Amino acid sequence: MAIIAFLSQKGGVGKSTLARAFACEAKKSGLSIKLADLDTQQGTVSEWHRHRLNNGNDPVGSVEVFGKVRDALELAESFDILILDGAPRASTATLEIAKVADLLVLPTGASRDDLIPTVLLAHELVKKGVPPERIGIALVRVSTESEIQDANHYITQAGHYCFKGHLPEKPAYRQAQNDGLAVTETRYKSLNERADELVQSITDRL
Ligand SMILES: Nc1ncnc2c1ncn2[C@@H]1O[C@H](COP(=O)(O)OP(=O)(O)OP(=O)(O)O)[C@@H](O)[C@H]1O
Ligand SMILES: [Mg+2]
Repeated sequence: MAIIAFLSQKGGVGKSTLARAFACEAKKSGLSIKLADLDTQQGTVSEWHRHRLNNGNDPVGSVEVFGKVRDALELAESFDILILDGAPRASTATLEIAKVADLLVLPTGASRDDLIPTVLLAHELVKKGVPPERIGIALVRVSTESEIQDANHYITQAGHYCFKGHLPEKPAYRQAQNDGLAVTETRYKSLNERADELVQSITDRL
């Protein structure tokens, strides 16, 4: 049993995107998956999964909305992997999750607007006793090589781990998710390989 959580201080940075891709790839490798949607207001992942099944695609495991983190955690023992897709903002639930999760993935864009709150959240988690090796920052919706390098530098200089690979900003990733697919399942082989590399790097740290 392993618990992985996708969390952030800011909304719209790619938590649900990476949680879905991670669930998809873990399921394909034969693991039993519980994907817990902790975003009760938007229900992004559960709505997406319903759409996925309606379109005739394979399930990514068992997907459920949870209002309370502890209700999701109680089910962890019954699955190989419990994936937690966090609500838009960090809250008391974030710490509750951080204390028990094997890996915390903090997605971020490459702008200072995104990087500063991401690194602050990572600092805060370490200050609250989360071992740094259980935290990783993932670059999402990035464009140029130089902004990727700068962001990577900023993260590592701040003392945190930046996952290998990144998710470039591409309408095809949005389109895939609109169709109930993951970012590893687009129509484009090269984009799937990019997404796979990031998901693999997350898996390797787990
Ligand atoms: N690499 C990408 N290229 C283009 N669009 C992307 C990419 N990654 C994510 N998106 C889009 O960005 C939006 C936000 O992504 P997502 O829902 O994963 O963020 P989130 O952190 O879960 O947001 P929230 O905090 O609201 O839960 C979505 O519309 C998603 O389809
Ligand atoms: Mg979300």
